[in-house]
Amino acid sequence: LRSALRRSAAASLMSSRGFASASGQQRKVAILGAAGGIGQPLSLLMKLNPMVSHLCLYDIAGTPGVAADVSHINTRSEVNGYAGEDQLGAALEGSDVVIIPAGVPRKPGMTRDDLFKINAGIVKSLCEGIAKYCPNALVNMISNPVNSTVPIAAEIFKIKGVYDPRRLFGVTTLDVVRAKTFYAGKANANVADVNVPVIGGHAGITILPLFSQATPSANLSAEEITALTKRTQDGGTEVVEAKAGKGSATLSMAYAGAIFADACLKGLNGVPDVVECSFVQSTVTELPFFASKVRLGKNGVEEVLGMGHLTDFEKQGLEALKPELKSSIEKGISFVHDN
Ligand code: NAD
Ligand code: LMR
Repeated sequence: LRSALRRSAAASLMSSRGFASASGQQRKVAILGAAGGIGQPLSLLMKLNPMVSHLCLYDIAGTPGVAADVSHINTRSEVNGYAGEDQLGAALEGSDVVIIPAGVPRKPGMTRDDLFKINAGIVKSLCEGIAKYCPNALVNMISNPVNSTVPIAAEIFKIKGVYDPRRLFGVTTLDVVRAKTFYAGKANANVADVNVPVIGGHAGITILPLFSQATPSANLSAEEITALTKRTQDGGTEVVEAKAGKGSATLSMAYAGAIFADACLKGLNGVPDVVECSFVQSTVTELPFFASKVRLGKNGVEEVLGMGHLTDFEKQGLEALKPELKSSIEKGISFVHDN
């Protein structure tokens, strides 16, 4: 009975979160920064994903313990911990999906861009490792500032001759998760049925939720839409302030990261019609990277979807975000060429 309960609890967690059913395919997932605030619960959630056959947990320290702990969970994947730079290659070798939550988080009063100085270097060296050891992996970039770390990754991969824009993703799923939660509250809708696309980038006003396209539709006032938009844009700051110096979103981010990695795995495994929002190389606007809905498939991004019809309020938001997003992208690109 106990094992049946355990099986059904895991199955219901996964199905209610949209995880695909188990598949015989071998899929290796590496998490870089796995001993951190996001890394640990994300490791747990990826251990629950039946598509994963090998789970490799890498950090500068602490991963043997996290891996030993997670490895006792009676799900399919084999778990290994890797600590320190000399083990990065072994952690990455043969990975299908690499998730990167490595780097420092914000404290109250900081912007995500204030993390650039430290995180840019971390992301650069990890991406050099990916280029060397698993150049065909789908890369899920969580480390902030995402608006710059994704362009950094792209430049590193270009320099190393392995860049394929279909395989590089900035994880913006937490913005979608928040938009869904906040919208469901206001629209009095069942949150499990709610969908809201979020476009642009992942910082302040560059996060642009499209509540006009939210489903199920609701008759919200302009004031309510403005407030929902602002709350979604400031969602990260809301958590940073509530944690009062103890970091930023970790649990909701682990959930969002697991949803996005699950979508990547489903795409790789040939599940049709897998669509998530992500910050990717894009021609949707004049900016080289932009978050919008993307269709995932066997090669990563199969199609970058357009943004659909925008209201005047959303059009204004789009024009307002472009200068900041452009400069964050350029900052990432320059960092690689100047260092
Ligand atoms: P944390 O400090 O708790 O954990 C970060 C981990 O990264 C630590 O375990 C640290 O040892 C590790 N690390 C540092 N340098 C490393 C390296 N060179 N190689 C491997 N690992 C390394 O921080 P956290 O709360 O987990 O946040 C991590 C990052 O995720 C931050 O940059 C944060 O801003 C970002 N974040 C992004 C989103 C998003 O929506 N994309 C959401 C929340 C947080
Ligand atoms: C978030 O949106 O929660 C993350 O980007 C972390 C942060 O610094 O806000």
